[in-house]
Amino acid sequence: MKLDGKVAIVTGSGQGIGEAIAVTLAKEGAKVVIADINEETAQGVAGRIASSGGEAIAIKTNVTNSSEVSQMVEQTLTHFGRVDILVNNAGTTIPSPTEQLSEEDWDKVVTLNLKGTFLCCREVGKHMIKQRSGRIVSIASLAAHKGLAYIAPYAASKAGICGFSRELAVEWGKYNINVNTISPSTTVTSLLQRYFEEQGIDPKAHLKYVPLERDNMPEDIANAVLFLVSNDSRNITGEDIVVDGGTNILYWPEKG
Ligand SMILES: NC(=O)c1ccc[n+]([C@@H]2O[C@H](COP(=O)([O-])OP(=O)(O)OC[C@H]3O[C@@H](n4cnc5c(N)ncnc54)[C@H](O)[C@@H]3O)[C@@H](O)[C@H]2O)c1
Repeated sequence: MKLDGKVAIVTGSGQGIGEAIAVTLAKEGAKVVIADINEETAQGVAGRIASSGGEAIAIKTNVTNSSEVSQMVEQTLTHFGRVDILVNNAGTTIPSPTEQLSEEDWDKVVTLNLKGTFLCCREVGKHMIKQRSGRIVSIASLAAHKGLAYIAPYAASKAGICGFSRELAVEWGKYNINVNTISPSTTVTSLLQRYFEEQGIDPKAHLKYVPLERDNMPEDIANAVLFLVSNDSRNITGEDIVVDGGTNILYWPEKG
């Protein structure tokens, strides 16, 4: 197994993409910390990993609160003795035309997506520096690279995650810590499926903008994370992998 003996913290892993990442890392032998603000869903994921033979614990954590983040890292060290992998996945968006966006909503999105990533990197980084090894992957978005209306704080914070991660990659390279990002396009989580159903949106309509004509699934993101936290990518740092079926490379939105 690729991650035998490794300890991984995955934030926001009580559902969606984070859950798929936690399950994938556990299948490869990692001991996983499900760090989510929702204790119930976090316990559920940890339980499902344990019942399929993996090892996981749930730690209720608000990643925007520095003392909760530092307690979560301490609890991880007490329980598992080390931290090898950090996946910053917790994130949110509050769509709005920018001229109507409140300062409060801007702060909510940027604080969770960008400050949450900084706080987790800072706390986990202290231990990775002592260990002289570590892997950090943060989930950005295609919105970090491409224009899309009504998600200004989301796009700004996700582009911020890419810049922040490149900076860390330079700063912490000498400690053998790789820092990379993944930029997914719209990913079909159960929440999104429900939303399509409720709104009567054809779930396949967007595939005309996808050269591979395939939905982006949480497992596609999880597999890219697995690559970036395994030894297969040991000489890759400060990079971003776009996982989107090719949407990003289209010159015109409608493919020929
Ligand atoms: N789903 C998509 O289409 C898509 C596309 C590109 C990027 N992303 C990014 O992937 C990540 C996961 O997306 P998702 O669709 O699975 O999201 P989701 O909303 O389904 O799950 C987010 C998880 O984060 C947790 N969370 C929220 N606030 C938190 C906090 N303060 N501290 C700790 N945990 C908190 C939630 O409880 C939840 O379990 C996000 O960063 C998102 O921006 C998603």
